[in-house]
Amino acid sequence: MKEETQIDMSRLTVKCGPKSSYDIVYKKSFEALSGEVSSLYPEKPRMCVITDTNVDPLYGDEVVKKLEPVSSGVMKYVVTAGEDHKNLDEIKEIYRFLIENKFDRKTVLVALGGGVIGDMTGYTAATFLRGVDFIQIPTTLLSQADSSIGGKTGVDFEGFKNMIGAFKMPSLVYTNLSTLISLPGRQFVSGFAEVMKSALLKDEIFYIWLIDNSYEIRDMDLDTLSEMVYRCDDIKRMIVEKDPYEKKERALLNLGHTLGHAIEKFYDFKFLHGECVSLGCVAAAFISWKKEFLSKEEFYEIRDMFVLFGLPISMDLADTSKIIELTKNDKKMSSGHIKFILLKKIGKAFINEDVTDEEMSAALDELNFAEGD
Ligand SMILES: NC(=O)c1ccc[n+]([C@@H]2O[C@H](COP(=O)([O-])OP(=O)(O)OC[C@H]3O[C@@H](n4cnc5c(N)ncnc54)[C@H](O)[C@@H]3O)[C@@H](O)[C@H]2O)c1
Ligand SMILES: [Zn+2]
Repeated sequence: MKEETQIDMSRLTVKCGPKSSYDIVYKKSFEALSGEVSSLYPEKPRMCVITDTNVDPLYGDEVVKKLEPVSSGVMKYVVTAGEDHKNLDEIKEIYRFLIENKFDRKTVLVALGGGVIGDMTGYTAATFLRGVDFIQIPTTLLSQADSSIGGKTGVDFEGFKNMIGAFKMPSLVYTNLSTLISLPGRQFVSGFAEVMKSALLKDEIFYIWLIDNSYEIRDMDLDTLSEMVYRCDDIKRMIVEKDPYEKKERALLNLGHTLGHAIEKFYDFKFLHGECVSLGCVAAAFISWKKEFLSKEEFYEIRDMFVLFGLPISMDLADTSKIIELTKNDKKMSSGHIKFILLKKIGKAFINEDVTDEEMSAALDELNFAEGD
């Protein structure tokens, strides 16, 4: 009998240098957390769990209990939930807490929460005492499928997203898929935009898999979600291993983000990140069609995929010139040119530096449901 080669989807290793790497583990509970941590840190270091006011009552105690036997002392610091608190004032409070409680260089920080907590904890770990280790325990779909890997950390500064930051790799990413059950539905759907983005930019087979498994995904079947997050992380792994510091190919992960970020800022962050990324991906697909990389059918197929998963594909974007203006602030500009990510086909993105304001404007008109009414 012919044996099928099964891929082990319970663990993924991300290389981040000739001799360094970290694992992402995929579990359905926190049961294995003590074992994973003690095999990395047999010396039982002190630990500080950093979490937020929504996640703490759900998982804070359980995580602390699992860490206690493998640490010489676990403390917890709780940040008020929300992007509004992802700033240097909040980081200062975390530094103060760590100093007052005599945490030292051997300390391990543990980020328990979504992308906001992951980015803040990572930034603290990169800078406190010139760098301490940190573990990611991502609890949102966005953080499990995107932000917890790749080592980008940071905070917002005076209205500019992620303006201050550092690259800092986690020592472990412990993904407990069952935490997604408590996530508000709108947050789950928003995180799904990043999953779609990953499939669109790199993996047509995964894109088809998402269509085939759409029922199980929306039904929150944990085995399906585990495979989905694994496949998504594997795409990001391939990209960040090749280009850890975003000199080139890592920019592909910015698919849907040039206009997405501008729309997010235009509405002063009233809409969730993934909702804006969904619009940005549809706009990028539209421009790809108009530039004759994609067919009209492919454009409409991509657009309908976002609808299938409950993501927006249109919005009242009356002031399109202001949105285009905002794309010029994008950090991903390269000497005056916007590095726009377009699609050659489903599963194949590329960097294009000659998207004009007129092309962006036409794409925004396509998204604008106020237009032509
Ligand atoms: N570092 C990177 O590479 C990278 C990539 C993408 C995004 N980001 C950053 O990630 C952030 C967005 O992350 P996010 O969408 O996870 O937002 P978030 O961390 O604000 O979480 C969203 C909301 O869900 C709550 N929450 C988290 N887990 C929960 C759970 N299991 N059950 C119930 N509620 C829960 C949070 O308290 C919050 O209110 C942004 O700041 C963005 O800049 C970073
Ligand atoms: Zn994003």
